[in-house]
Amino acid sequence: MKFFATPPVHGSLANQVVHPADLCFKLPENVSLEEGAMCEPLSVGVHACRRAEVGPETDVLVMGVGPIGLVTMLAARAFGVPRIVIVDVDENHLSVAKQLGAYRIVQVTTNLEDVGSEVEQIQKAMGSNIDVTFDCASFNKTMSTTLAATRCGGKVCLVGMGHGVMTVPLTPVAAREVDVVGVFRYKNTWPLCLEFLTSGKIDVKPLITHRFGFSQKEVGDAFETSARGINAIKVMFNL
Ligand SMILES: *[C@@H]1O[C@H](CO)[C@@H](O)[C@H](O)[C@H]1NC(C)=O
Repeated sequence: MKFFATPPVHGSLANQVVHPADLCFKLPENVSLEEGAMCEPLSVGVHACRRAEVGPETDVLVMGVGPIGLVTMLAARAFGVPRIVIVDVDENHLSVAKQLGAYRIVQVTTNLEDVGSEVEQIQKAMGSNIDVTFDCASFNKTMSTTLAATRCGGKVCLVGMGHGVMTVPLTPVAAREVDVVGVFRYKNTWPLCLEFLTSGKIDVKPLITHRFGFSQKEVGDAFETSARGINAIKVMFNL
């Protein structure tokens, strides 16, 4: 049995792969292969939501809105979160988040000196306490912002992996009893992801922005697009 995601295995980029049957989940009839493939990134969001214990009583902040920020937002909505404020530096990312159901969006800078004023801006945008924050970027600045913006007794879930070492003001976090939880990929998420897709609670289709065939050239183009493509969220191969 091979684990497909990490070196030395080069993924499962093949027309057919053999996988143990007890680790396979049959797609419901109304879930396409493309949507099924989206269970992988979506699982990251689902696992983060479980770890942070979000639900209809929690207002949520998502910091950083790349593909992982977006799936975290979609998962949080499916968990019943009423209000999600989304923060990013990029205007285009923010407008995608708005279209996909963000309550409010806040554009920030990369300048560490702006943390204080941006925390105020973010809290004002929410208009109530921020119970749970997902840091889907994880830089010095984003973590400083999320820790300060989250209410006393709230939770910050570290989803992104921007910097291996982050310098943040930790003592006030301890004094305000903000819990920090982490995630390592996910576990036991496929059945719930499939339920969200089959019930229509989550629509992952808007995240699929590009499609490529499976020739040598198109595979190269696809990776190029995924790495550098402006406005690329998720890139699919159609076999
Ligand atoms: C994070 O902040 C610390 C302290 O200011 C600094 O030394 C470090 O280089 C920063 N890390 C990155 C990756 O910018």
